[in-house]
Amino acid sequence: MIDQKRIDEKLRAGKRLSKLDAPKTLTNKEKVLSDNDFIVSKTDTKGYIIYCNRIFVEMAGWSRFELIGANHNIIRHPDMPKIAFKILWDLIQNKKEFFGFVKNLRKDGGFYWVFAYITPDLDLNGNIISYTSFRKKPSRKGIEFLTPIYKQLVEAEKSGGISASYELLKEILKANDDNVIEKYQRLIFDLQRDKDVLV
Ligand SMILES: Cc1cc2nc3c(=O)[nH]c(=O)nc-3n(C[C@H](O)[C@H](O)[C@H](O)COP(=O)(O)O)c2cc1C
Repeated sequence: MIDQKRIDEKLRAGKRLSKLDAPKTLTNKEKVLSDNDFIVSKTDTKGYIIYCNRIFVEMAGWSRFELIGANHNIIRHPDMPKIAFKILWDLIQNKKEFFGFVKNLRKDGGFYWVFAYITPDLDLNGNIISYTSFRKKPSRKGIEFLTPIYKQLVEAEKSGGISASYELLKEILKANDDNVIEKYQRLIFDLQRDKDVLV
Protein backbone atom coordinates (compact mmCIF):
# COMPACT_ATOMS: atom_id res chain seq x y z
CA MET A 1 0.00 0.00 0.00
CA ILE A 2 1.33 3.44 -0.78
CA ASP A 3 0.45 6.25 1.49
CA GLN A 4 -1.68 8.80 -0.39
CA LYS A 5 -0.75 11.44 2.19
CA ARG A 6 2.95 11.00 1.38
CA ILE A 7 2.19 11.35 -2.32
CA ASP A 8 0.10 14.50 -1.75
CA GLU A 9 2.93 16.01 0.33
CA LYS A 10 5.46 15.16 -2.37
CA LEU A 11 3.33 16.79 -5.09
CA ARG A 12 2.65 19.88 -2.95
CA ALA A 13 6.40 20.24 -2.53
CA GLY A 14 6.72 20.16 -6.33
CA LYS A 15 8.89 17.04 -6.33
CA ARG A 16 8.04 15.64 -9.72
CA LEU A 17 10.61 13.47 -11.46
CA SER A 18 11.15 13.94 -15.18
CA LYS A 19 13.60 12.94 -17.93
CA LEU A 20 16.12 15.26 -16.25
CA ASP A 21 16.26 12.77 -13.35
CA ALA A 22 16.60 9.74 -15.64
CA PRO A 23 19.92 7.82 -15.73
CA LYS A 24 22.59 9.33 -17.97
CA THR A 25 24.59 6.12 -18.32
CA LEU A 26 22.92 3.56 -20.55
CA THR A 27 23.65 -0.14 -20.07
CA ASN A 28 22.24 -1.63 -23.29
CA LYS A 29 20.66 -4.35 -21.15
CA GLU A 30 17.20 -5.34 -22.38
CA LYS A 31 14.34 -6.45 -20.12
CA VAL A 32 11.76 -8.35 -22.15
CA LEU A 33 8.06 -8.04 -21.32
CA SER A 34 6.36 -11.41 -20.65
CA ASP A 35 3.89 -12.71 -23.23
CA ASN A 36 0.85 -12.29 -20.98
CA ASP A 37 1.72 -9.03 -19.27
CA PHE A 38 0.21 -5.61 -19.86
CA ILE A 39 1.79 -2.37 -18.74
CA VAL A 40 -0.84 0.21 -17.79
CA SER A 41 -0.51 3.87 -16.92
CA LYS A 42 -2.69 6.92 -16.83
CA THR A 43 -1.65 10.58 -17.02
CA ASP A 44 -3.34 13.92 -16.48
CA THR A 45 -3.80 16.15 -19.54
CA LYS A 46 -0.20 17.42 -19.23
CA GLY A 47 1.39 13.96 -19.21
CA TYR A 48 2.03 13.59 -15.47
CA ILE A 49 1.50 10.03 -14.26
CA ILE A 50 -1.57 9.60 -12.05
CA TYR A 51 -1.75 5.78 -12.12
CA CYS A 52 0.53 2.88 -12.97
CA ASN A 53 0.17 -0.86 -12.51
CA ARG A 54 2.54 -3.40 -10.97
CA ILE A 55 4.04 -4.44 -14.30
CA PHE A 56 4.88 -0.80 -15.11
CA VAL A 57 6.78 -0.53 -11.83
CA GLU A 58 8.66 -3.79 -12.54
CA MET A 59 9.57 -2.86 -16.10
CA ALA A 60 10.51 0.79 -15.49
CA GLY A 61 12.45 0.01 -12.30
CA TRP A 62 11.18 3.14 -10.49
CA SER A 63 8.99 2.71 -7.42
CA ARG A 64 5.30 3.53 -7.59
CA PHE A 65 5.94 6.39 -5.16
CA GLU A 66 8.54 7.84 -7.54
CA LEU A 67 6.33 7.37 -10.60
CA ILE A 68 3.08 8.91 -9.35
CA GLY A 69 3.27 12.62 -10.18
CA ALA A 70 6.32 12.18 -12.41
CA ASN A 71 6.32 13.37 -16.02
CA HIS A 72 5.82 10.36 -18.30
CA ASN A 73 9.05 11.35 -20.05
CA ILE A 74 10.91 9.90 -17.02
CA ILE A 75 11.18 6.72 -19.15
CA ARG A 76 11.96 8.46 -22.44
CA HIS A 77 14.84 6.70 -24.18
CA PRO A 78 17.31 8.84 -26.21
CA ASP A 79 17.07 6.33 -29.10
CA MET A 80 13.43 7.38 -29.62
CA PRO A 81 12.94 10.10 -32.26
CA LYS A 82 11.04 13.23 -31.24
CA ILE A 83 8.72 12.83 -34.22
CA ALA A 84 7.20 9.68 -32.62
CA PHE A 85 6.08 11.70 -29.60
CA LYS A 86 4.85 14.56 -31.77
CA ILE A 87 2.61 12.12 -33.68
CA LEU A 88 1.46 10.65 -30.35
CA TRP A 89 0.48 14.01 -28.81
CA ASP A 90 -1.07 15.37 -32.04
CA LEU A 91 -3.32 12.32 -32.21
CA ILE A 92 -4.40 12.07 -28.58
CA GLN A 93 -4.97 15.81 -28.16
CA ASN A 94 -7.28 15.52 -31.17
CA LYS A 95 -9.21 12.73 -29.41
CA LYS A 96 -7.69 9.99 -31.55
CA GLU A 97 -5.79 6.89 -30.53
CA PHE A 98 -2.10 6.23 -30.97
CA PHE A 99 -0.35 2.92 -31.63
CA GLY A 100 3.39 2.55 -31.77
CA PHE A 101 6.58 0.69 -30.95
CA VAL A 102 8.36 2.50 -28.12
CA LYS A 103 11.78 1.86 -26.61
CA ASN A 104 11.74 2.88 -22.96
CA LEU A 105 14.51 3.67 -20.50
CA ARG A 106 14.71 1.84 -17.15
CA LYS A 107 15.96 3.39 -13.94
CA ASP A 108 19.05 1.15 -14.10
CA GLY A 109 19.95 2.51 -17.55
CA GLY A 110 18.65 -0.58 -19.37
CA PHE A 111 15.71 -0.57 -21.76
CA TYR A 112 12.50 -2.37 -22.72
CA TRP A 113 10.42 -2.29 -25.89
CA VAL A 114 6.64 -2.11 -25.92
CA PHE A 115 3.78 -2.10 -28.40
CA ALA A 116 1.81 0.84 -27.04
CA TYR A 117 -1.80 1.92 -27.34
CA ILE A 118 -2.65 5.36 -25.94
CA THR A 119 -6.15 6.78 -25.78
CA PRO A 120 -7.69 9.99 -24.44
CA ASP A 121 -10.29 9.61 -21.67
CA LEU A 122 -13.33 11.79 -22.37
CA ASP A 123 -15.99 13.03 -19.94
CA LEU A 124 -19.67 13.02 -20.85
CA ASN A 125 -19.29 16.37 -22.62
CA GLY A 126 -16.48 15.02 -24.76
CA ASN A 127 -13.70 16.89 -22.96
CA ILE A 128 -10.34 15.20 -22.46
CA ILE A 129 -9.83 14.56 -18.74
CA SER A 130 -6.83 12.21 -18.81
CA TYR A 131 -4.96 9.74 -21.01
CA THR A 132 -4.58 5.98 -20.61
CA SER A 133 -1.99 3.68 -22.09
CA PHE A 134 -1.80 -0.10 -22.37
CA ARG A 135 1.32 -1.82 -23.67
CA LYS A 136 2.06 -5.39 -24.56
CA LYS A 137 4.98 -7.36 -25.87
CA PRO A 138 6.01 -6.09 -29.32
CA SER A 139 6.93 -8.36 -32.20
CA ARG A 140 10.68 -8.91 -32.67
CA LYS A 141 10.18 -8.19 -36.33
CA GLY A 142 8.82 -4.73 -35.49
CA ILE A 143 11.76 -3.97 -33.20
CA GLU A 144 14.29 -5.13 -35.79
CA PHE A 145 12.59 -3.25 -38.59
CA LEU A 146 12.17 0.02 -36.71
CA THR A 147 15.52 0.21 -34.88
CA PRO A 148 17.49 1.44 -37.94
CA ILE A 149 14.61 3.72 -38.96
CA TYR A 150 14.46 5.34 -35.51
CA LYS A 151 18.23 5.76 -35.71
CA GLN A 152 17.96 7.61 -39.03
CA LEU A 153 15.16 9.80 -37.65
CA VAL A 154 17.21 10.67 -34.53
CA GLU A 155 20.18 11.55 -36.78
CA ALA A 156 17.97 13.75 -38.97
CA GLU A 157 16.71 15.54 -35.85
CA LYS A 158 20.27 16.27 -34.68
CA SER A 159 20.99 18.34 -37.76
CA GLY A 160 17.59 19.48 -39.03
CA GLY A 161 15.22 19.23 -36.07
CA ILE A 162 11.79 17.67 -36.10
CA SER A 163 10.88 19.04 -39.54
CA ALA A 164 13.79 17.05 -41.02
CA SER A 165 12.63 13.80 -39.39
CA TYR A 166 9.06 14.44 -40.52
CA GLU A 167 10.25 14.83 -44.13
CA LEU A 168 12.36 11.68 -43.79
CA LEU A 169 9.41 9.74 -42.36
CA LYS A 170 7.26 10.75 -45.33
CA GLU A 171 10.05 9.64 -47.66
CA ILE A 172 10.44 6.25 -45.91
CA LEU A 173 6.68 5.64 -45.97
CA LYS A 174 6.29 7.00 -49.51
CA ALA A 175 3.65 9.25 -48.01
CA ASN A 176 2.49 12.85 -48.19
CA ASP A 177 1.04 15.23 -45.57
CA ASP A 178 -2.45 13.78 -46.09
CA ASN A 179 -1.70 10.09 -45.64
CA VAL A 180 1.48 9.93 -43.53
CA ILE A 181 -0.32 9.08 -40.27
CA GLU A 182 -2.52 6.48 -41.92
CA LYS A 183 0.52 4.84 -43.57
CA TYR A 184 2.49 5.00 -40.32
CA GLN A 185 -0.32 3.27 -38.40
CA ARG A 186 -0.74 0.61 -41.09
CA LEU A 187 2.98 -0.16 -40.92
CA ILE A 188 2.80 -0.47 -37.12
CA PHE A 189 -0.12 -2.94 -37.27
CA ASP A 190 1.56 -4.98 -40.01
CA LEU A 191 4.77 -5.18 -37.98
CA GLN A 192 2.95 -6.23 -34.84
CA ARG A 193 1.05 -8.90 -36.79
CA ASP A 194 4.43 -10.10 -38.09
CA LYS A 195 3.31 -9.40 -41.63
CA ASP A 196 5.90 -8.75 -44.32
CA VAL A 197 6.04 -5.08 -45.05
CA LEU A 198 7.13 -3.26 -48.13
CA VAL A 199 7.99 0.36 -47.51
C1 LIG B 1 -0.73 8.03 -21.42
C2 LIG B 1 0.65 8.36 -21.93
C3 LIG B 1 1.63 7.37 -21.96
C4 LIG B 1 2.92 7.65 -22.41
N1 LIG B 1 3.84 6.64 -22.39
C5 LIG B 1 5.11 6.91 -22.76
C6 LIG B 1 6.11 5.90 -22.67
O1 LIG B 1 5.85 4.74 -22.33
N2 LIG B 1 7.39 6.25 -23.01
C7 LIG B 1 7.72 7.52 -23.41
O2 LIG B 1 8.91 7.77 -23.67
N3 LIG B 1 6.78 8.48 -23.53
C8 LIG B 1 5.50 8.20 -23.20
N4 LIG B 1 4.55 9.19 -23.31
C9 LIG B 1 4.95 10.47 -23.93
C10 LIG B 1 5.58 11.43 -22.94
O3 LIG B 1 4.55 12.21 -22.38
C11 LIG B 1 6.56 12.37 -23.66
O4 LIG B 1 5.91 13.05 -24.70
C12 LIG B 1 7.78 11.65 -24.25
O5 LIG B 1 8.40 10.84 -23.28
C13 LIG B 1 8.80 12.62 -24.82
O6 LIG B 1 9.17 13.53 -23.85
P1 LIG B 1 9.78 14.94 -24.17
O7 LIG B 1 8.98 15.50 -25.29
O8 LIG B 1 9.66 15.71 -22.90
O9 LIG B 1 11.20 14.68 -24.57
C14 LIG B 1 3.24 8.95 -22.87
C15 LIG B 1 2.26 9.94 -22.86
C16 LIG B 1 0.97 9.65 -22.42
C17 LIG B 1 -0.07 10.73 -22.44
